[in-house]
Amino acid sequence: MTRYRPTLRQSDVTPKALYLNRRALIAGATGLVGSALLGGGAAHAAYVDMAGGEEPNSFEDISSYNNYYEFGTGKDDPARNAGALTTDPWTIRVEGLVEKPGDYALGDLLEGLPVEERIYRFRCVEAWSMVIPWRGIELRHILERVGVQPSAKYVAFETLVRPEEMPGVRYPVLDWPYREGLRLDEAMHPLTLMATGVYDEDLPNQNGAPIRLVVPWKYGFKSIKSIVTLRLTEEQPKTSWNMSQPGEYGFYSNVNPEVDHPRWSQATERRIGDGLFARRRETLMFNGYAEEVGGLYAGMDLAKNF
Ligand code: MTE
Repeated sequence: MTRYRPTLRQSDVTPKALYLNRRALIAGATGLVGSALLGGGAAHAAYVDMAGGEEPNSFEDISSYNNYYEFGTGKDDPARNAGALTTDPWTIRVEGLVEKPGDYALGDLLEGLPVEERIYRFRCVEAWSMVIPWRGIELRHILERVGVQPSAKYVAFETLVRPEEMPGVRYPVLDWPYREGLRLDEAMHPLTLMATGVYDEDLPNQNGAPIRLVVPWKYGFKSIKSIVTLRLTEEQPKTSWNMSQPGEYGFYSNVNPEVDHPRWSQATERRIGDGLFARRRETLMFNGYAEEVGGLYAGMDLAKNF
């Protein structure tokens, strides 16, 4: 486990081959293929495989096939247009039902918090998927730092709106800013990360630099990028896709092969990087994280709360 250092520069970037080797070496040495490798005393933190041993997508796939409508609606628009985004300095406003509200410099908000490196499955609502090695901080540690008031039940998130650097926000594709929300217990779950990097590199802008949410058991659109506001609320927050198309996108957005999107099936997915003629993969309940998070939804009708 490493600690977040605000001034850390990724000068010792690990090439993919080396990184995969390291993973294979560690897995081989411990015989723990596919299970958690916590700590271990390694000088350089090892990625914890939480994707069942599946091969991660390449850095190229992860940073070139994106959804980030502030930079355009095409899959290659974010990689083409997001380079101009200024991500340093970066301030996050923390407000609502918190003990220590304020405008926090990103480095101050994260300083000293434990940094995790984890490989997660990532499933987009459009029925494609990837496997991504993220670096990030558990959101719960950030919430503990700012102090959640007892009456808070939800966390609302908002993305930056900066028309000079974000050509997409000049068009009313969505009602900007991009918004998302989680129930407090979802936000406090240890799987929920605020990601700051992929593959030992700082997040590319197109992936949501300098900090974005990752909730691996939910469709990808819950993973809001380039976050500038965290608000603790008593009421369920509005979310961009639900505001835009309420019949198609609910608040929960849990990956569920049994609840189809009104216009397509959610039972299978296409893995980005698989060949054109490759077999589609079966989508897993809660994207494969049912054991960890299923209990959060006990007794809820998931067809209604989609
Ligand atoms: N966040 C913002 N601010 N704007 C967006 O358009 N798209 C979402 C999500 N977060 C989006 C966003 C969707 S639909 C997906 S699938 C993921 O980002 C894609 O993340 P990736 O490009 O890093 O794979």
